[in-house]
Amino acid sequence: MQKVLIDPWGSELVGDYQRIIDDFGLEVFDKSLFPQPNRLMRRGVVFAGRDLQRIASCIKEKKPFYVLTGIMPSGEKIHFGTKAVIEQVKYFQERGAKTFVLVADLEAAATRGISLQEARKRALEFYIPAYIALGLDAKKTIFYFQSENHLVTNLGFTFAKKITFNEFKAIYGEAEPGKIMSAVTQCGDILFPQLEKPMPGIIPTGSDQDPHVRLCRDLVNRFKELKFVQISSIYHKFTPSLDGGLKMSKSKPESNLDLPEDVESVKRKLRKALTGGRDTLEEQRRLGAVIEKDMVFEMLKQHFVEDDKELEKIFQEYKSGKMLSGEIKELACKKAEAFMNAFNKDFEKAKKAVSKVKFFKA
Ligand code: TRP
Repeated sequence: MQKVLIDPWGSELVGDYQRIIDDFGLEVFDKSLFPQPNRLMRRGVVFAGRDLQRIASCIKEKKPFYVLTGIMPSGEKIHFGTKAVIEQVKYFQERGAKTFVLVADLEAAATRGISLQEARKRALEFYIPAYIALGLDAKKTIFYFQSENHLVTNLGFTFAKKITFNEFKAIYGEAEPGKIMSAVTQCGDILFPQLEKPMPGIIPTGSDQDPHVRLCRDLVNRFKELKFVQISSIYHKFTPSLDGGLKMSKSKPESNLDLPEDVESVKRKLRKALTGGRDTLEEQRRLGAVIEKDMVFEMLKQHFVEDDKELEKIFQEYKSGKMLSGEIKELACKKAEAFMNAFNKDFEKAKKAVSKVKFFKA
């Protein structure tokens, strides 16, 4: 059987989430573990993780734990997957997690050739304000740049001693120097909060980052003397491409929505999106829409409708043939417009607040 390799730097994607779960030995996400699950958890968009019970217990018993994620400052736009990550961070932050958000400037240099200066500029002018606009509480978050946190890079060097070239190739499928350096640095990121005091930590990311998490978990076992508590992770599904593909991608701009994006362009794309509507009006009324194929409903479900009852009503009307594809598209346009306008406003506010953010250095 061909083994699926998920490459955290590549764009080769695997369509079958069950296969990701099986091949990586992930835990299927169980929403009943967590109190007041958020929209992504409730609707199966969050689908897997590792060692989730450990974090659930911390929440339940009010024990200390942390949540950590990284920003790759590669462009001037973020995609909806990033929004999902921030929503996960926010969920754990609101439930008492000590929160870390790092700028992966070293990784951007080593894997994309972006200078440290440019990475800093993009982080300050765009990424951090965008994260705040999407709900991260900046006052309760510890931010840092990889290049300014020597605890992280020092850990990376320490870890390097106990990783072999073959092991690296087995996990990542290849082993370029820049990728090796980024991977050990990322393990440094994930574990450095425990240098002060060992405690559980959770890493919300796309499942493409799971190779790093696996390596990191192996390192926890290999460096027993450092007394790290094993780390947990939580993964969400991709936001699908509006043409029905697995994942939105910049290579298909007409099926890809960004943040921020001009409202008219968002609406134009939504109106062209693949729906599960039938060929004729008569059939649509009689048979209803094929919701599983409908990218507009998927966007409402994943991102634009917060209230479960409201979503259920849309589902019923669309499925029964009462609502037509053109109508659900107009509904999505309205929701998307409200969301984009609110984001733009919060983003402008956050840009002003960003000068007050202090960065951790060590
Ligand atoms: N590799 C991540 C990316 O490409 C960025 C990252 C660096 C990260 N360190 C991390 C993510 C630690 C989660 C945890 O986006």
